[in-house]
Amino acid sequence: MNSLIQTIQLIANPTKFLDKSAAKYGDTFTMRVLGINSPPVVFFGHPQAISECFAIPAQKLDFKKATHVFKPLFGANSIVLQQGLQHNRQRSLLMPPFHGDRMKSYGETIYSITQHVTKNWRPGQIVSMQHVMPDITLQIILQVVFGISPGARYEKLKQLLSTLLDDITTPWYSSLFFFPPLQKDLGAWSPWGNYLKRKQDIDNLVYAEISERRQLQDDSLTDILSLLMSARDEDGQAMSDEELKDQLISLLLLGYETTAGVLQWLFYLIHAHADVKDKIINELKSVTPNEVTKLPYLSAVCQETMRLHPIALICTPRMTKETVEISSVEYAAGTVLVPCIYLAHHRSETYIEPEKFNPDRFLNQKYSPTEYLPFGGGYRGCIGSAFSMYELKLVMAAILSQFELELVDRRPVKPMRRGITIVPSSGVTMKVKQINSCEAGILARP
Ligand code: HEM
Repeated sequence: MNSLIQTIQLIANPTKFLDKSAAKYGDTFTMRVLGINSPPVVFFGHPQAISECFAIPAQKLDFKKATHVFKPLFGANSIVLQQGLQHNRQRSLLMPPFHGDRMKSYGETIYSITQHVTKNWRPGQIVSMQHVMPDITLQIILQVVFGISPGARYEKLKQLLSTLLDDITTPWYSSLFFFPPLQKDLGAWSPWGNYLKRKQDIDNLVYAEISERRQLQDDSLTDILSLLMSARDEDGQAMSDEELKDQLISLLLLGYETTAGVLQWLFYLIHAHADVKDKIINELKSVTPNEVTKLPYLSAVCQETMRLHPIALICTPRMTKETVEISSVEYAAGTVLVPCIYLAHHRSETYIEPEKFNPDRFLNQKYSPTEYLPFGGGYRGCIGSAFSMYELKLVMAAILSQFELELVDRRPVKPMRRGITIVPSSGVTMKVKQINSCEAGILARP
């Protein structure tokens, strides 16, 4: 296929491109992005091939070539841009705050932010999930990751981060990242100069927070910034201020748009399938807020939503430094390998009627980590996966238990690219039908 047409199709309508390519070429296919001399890019959808990709030792792969475009956004020290030992070190520092009992301590904050954002909803009101969900998830990440409480710096960061993300997901702005020659600082009025100025404003606010926290020296704080400041690697080394700043910005940017996108799909799919909604409501009646995250049906609905519409279509691309073998095929040095989440989730060999939204499939069957991988996998898998699952369920429960909503437009929505995420094309506009006053379980909360 002509490489330019392939590239345009991949950017403009990625899910259609992947569907068409898989129908034509099967589980594995190769394309060239941007021209004949660019490296071959191989997409893998077969679970065994994805498993083999994940198992390739890190020293045989170069992750930087594919992720360098994110350097001006995340910063040179970001985990996304590391590989080898440095990557291991950062993962070992970043993972603990997102797991186990630590994570559970964030539940109350997630619940109360959701209630706060929705507190003025009234029957008849029209709400757009495209706007409400990023508002909720950005506040969650600011409070949970940064531990910043609402106030002047919080409001400023919230506003700067959301406008930065709105801008960089427009086609024009995102092209600045992919074409370094356009990255010319010609003053605050030039696009790149303007970007750098705003990024600097964000960096300054983050540095101010780090510096204040260093002076505070309060051991009782449990937010992720505090935990990262006191974390030490195997050699007893702590993170520098610059490293902390780059990690925090990466966590913020990776953590809130993704979760907000899944929530939009969840609200759309649940309300487009009345039987699914009824089952969730029934399940919520029988529990307290603490038990919400363990509900089997709510979990299955979240899993099926991310199967059908994975928010990230692919795992981090990796370039081979030497010849590697996958499913008995040799790939020469310089090949880009892409474990493809979307293809794995839409295989009819794995999923009966893969295009159908059917949460029950997750109640009846267990899928392997390379058949079902909304958070990627292996040593580059998402570090926020457990936290996000927890957050999704709590936000859903907090809203569904209080409000009865309906879709304003019931026409099917399409997956649409927004930056590096795939979100519903419609924006998911909903009408508040009524405020619940049910007696039992979580629905009884004020
Ligand atoms: C539903 C929400 C989310 C989805 C669907 C998601 C998905 C992903 C995917 C597919 C990857 C690439 C994995 C790979 O290459 O195998 C990734 C990486 C990553 N995610 Fe998430 N993510 C979500 C939320 C979060 C949150 C809440 C955080 C943290 C606050 C986070 C932090 C990261 C980081 C730091 C990486 C890079 C890991 C590395 O390079 O070692 N993500 N995520």
